[in-house]
Amino acid sequence: MNTLGKRALIKMIGLSAVSMAVLTACGKKEEAPAAPAAAPAAAAPAADKLKVGFMYVSPIGDGGWTFQHELGRKAIQEKFGDKIETSMVESVPESADAERVMRDMIGQGNKLVFATSFGYQDFVQKVAADSQGVKFEHATGYKTADNAAVYDTKTFEGAYLAGIVAGAMTKTKTVGVVASVPIPEVVRNINSFVLGAQSVDPSIKAKVVWVNEWFAPPKESEAANSLINGGVDVMYQNTNSPAVLKTAEERGARAFGKDGDMS
Ligand code: GUN
Repeated sequence: MNTLGKRALIKMIGLSAVSMAVLTACGKKEEAPAAPAAAPAAAAPAADKLKVGFMYVSPIGDGGWTFQHELGRKAIQEKFGDKIETSMVESVPESADAERVMRDMIGQGNKLVFATSFGYQDFVQKVAADSQGVKFEHATGYKTADNAAVYDTKTFEGAYLAGIVAGAMTKTKTVGVVASVPIPEVVRNINSFVLGAQSVDPSIKAKVVWVNEWFAPPKESEAANSLINGGVDVMYQNTNSPAVLKTAEERGARAFGKDGDMS
């Protein structure tokens, strides 16, 4: 996908969510001050800081989805300076561990929680229901609540463009996808990639291998190898690591990075 577009969107989502929460948390209004403004404090007192927690499904060094979110966390920390305090927990499975980590974040005073993986959805709903003073942002889900919103990016647009390039480059007339977890977003990306390739040549065939995990470099490589063995010469991937690209390089095939610049 378009790496810059993705990065900019994640940053924008983070900035807008945090701006709203900072305004709410501090009760600020956009009005001219009635009295002469007091000298600005050197640093916001700790109690005024909005604490923002990020929960990640893979390590921050994954080179993809989590790495880009981590760049977003650092960007909002830089943008809002001492008005906010951010923290993160990496490699949190999409299981009861997610609920534990979010409750822990809330216990530590976080008032805005970014649950950055699709499989956290039901745990966000559960924790949000009894954490009314806390706001949640969940990645790409479809369940919301008064204090739980969803954010998403149009990754399918980049997938379609990648498909057009793949369609123009494939010599075997067979393109492939290493797919992660079967959720709507991933299915959309696969469909977009294949439709993009077939817009160049309708006779192009597509093969898909599911690894059923977001971050599993050995399985991602194995899936890429089996696609190549099956005649695929250009691949798209929706997993978090650059393993598919690495395998493509070793095997003389081609592949697109998705969440980050994996070239
Ligand atoms: N968790 C890890 N990677 C992804 C991704 O690409 N999309 C969503 N929704 N969650 C993820």
